[in-house]
Amino acid sequence: MEYNRHRVHESFIYTWFSTIAAVLQFKVVSCALMKAIVKYLAGLAGPSGYGSKSTAEQVTQHCSLSSTSSPSSTLTAIITGATSGIGAETARVLAKRGVRIIIPARDRKKATLVKEKILKESPEADITLLEIDLSSFASVKRFCTEFLSLGLPLNILINNAGKFSQKLEYSEDKIEMTFATNYLGHFLLTEMLLEKMVETAAETGIEGRIVNVSSVIHHWVKRNHFSFSQMLNPSNYNGTRAYAQSKLANILHAKELSRQLKERKANVTINAVHPGIVKTGIIRDHKGFITESLFFVAAKLLKSTSQGAATTCYVAVSPQTEGMSGLYFSDCNQCHSSSLANDEAVALKLWKLTRSLIRRRSHYTVA
Ligand SMILES: NC(=O)c1ccc[n+]([C@@H]2O[C@H](COP(=O)([O-])OP(=O)(O)OC[C@H]3O[C@@H](n4cnc5c(N)ncnc54)[C@H](OP(=O)(O)O)[C@@H]3O)[C@@H](O)[C@H]2O)c1
Repeated sequence: MEYNRHRVHESFIYTWFSTIAAVLQFKVVSCALMKAIVKYLAGLAGPSGYGSKSTAEQVTQHCSLSSTSSPSSTLTAIITGATSGIGAETARVLAKRGVRIIIPARDRKKATLVKEKILKESPEADITLLEIDLSSFASVKRFCTEFLSLGLPLNILINNAGKFSQKLEYSEDKIEMTFATNYLGHFLLTEMLLEKMVETAAETGIEGRIVNVSSVIHHWVKRNHFSFSQMLNPSNYNGTRAYAQSKLANILHAKELSRQLKERKANVTINAVHPGIVKTGIIRDHKGFITESLFFVAAKLLKSTSQGAATTCYVAVSPQTEGMSGLYFSDCNQCHSSSLANDEAVALKLWKLTRSLIRRRSHYTVA
């Protein structure tokens, strides 16, 4: 039992490190790839002027986000998963830049600590804590109803919360936990808040932005393993595969919703990002001698939390990303997602299946 637990913990870590190993060991090291690795390690800037070593503070430095004229011009952002790691850093930096922050959290105590920490640094920050469990349709609905009743505008939605479940677990809606949390919860959240975002953008003339925090691990998903019914209720569970599938679904969600938003000429964009590899809670839980040793060896390849939050902040508020939608970013630059993630037909199919599932299970009528 203990052995199994360690094996699953480590398989997740190996997924990342074996990518690096594959790159180093085999002849797949093309010139372009080699250049990309050197660029990453050296933190060289890409076309955006930023690179792997840019921090969230740096990429938001020249963004004028705070309200100069009236409180109604203050940007409002919802950031899921802001009780720790990349999300907490994203909230800290955006609050410092004058953005009103809404933190939906399942752990009130952790959320209060994050709020207190932000207020210590930015006493003027406007932070509201609300309850959510993204793995539960009912909880997501409750959160949306509560948020919408506050009568606030909504400019930015950062779908950042993430879970990696080592063993097969089910949500209260009887759906595999990783898929329910990382993808379905965020899908419903976005659906229920979308009209508020479109309305806010139309009223203020400020582009609304949605950011789905995905992962480079989505490249691992093979076409024949991407089955909706299997993701809901896997017959042969593998934690790393489930996580990768949920992260692929985050990108496909961004692609299809972006297409729909463009079609209706809504002033709201949606993109997906890979934050980089950061030793946050999602990895820290995976303890073990081998895991720790791997981290020790690969410490130089990891990003700091502030570097990890940079791409999200860049896509969420930089004037450079204005009008960009349906794209995938890493190290604060647009980059390529997998061919499966770029497949419009797969994105549309996933969208339809998700909507029909949500309609059946959550009693939420999507327009
Ligand atoms: N760290 C990396 O190397 C890495 C690499 C690629 C992508 N990412 C992605 O980056 C995002 C942020 O992850 P992180 O690394 O910052 O991990 P983290 O420190 O573990 O943070 C995860 C956050 O998600 C929240 N969360 C988990 N399940 C939830 C649920 N059911 N309802 C509401 N909130 C829930 C957690 O809340 P609690 O405090 O209640 O647990 C926490 O705030 C994730 O989407 C992850 O997949 C991370």
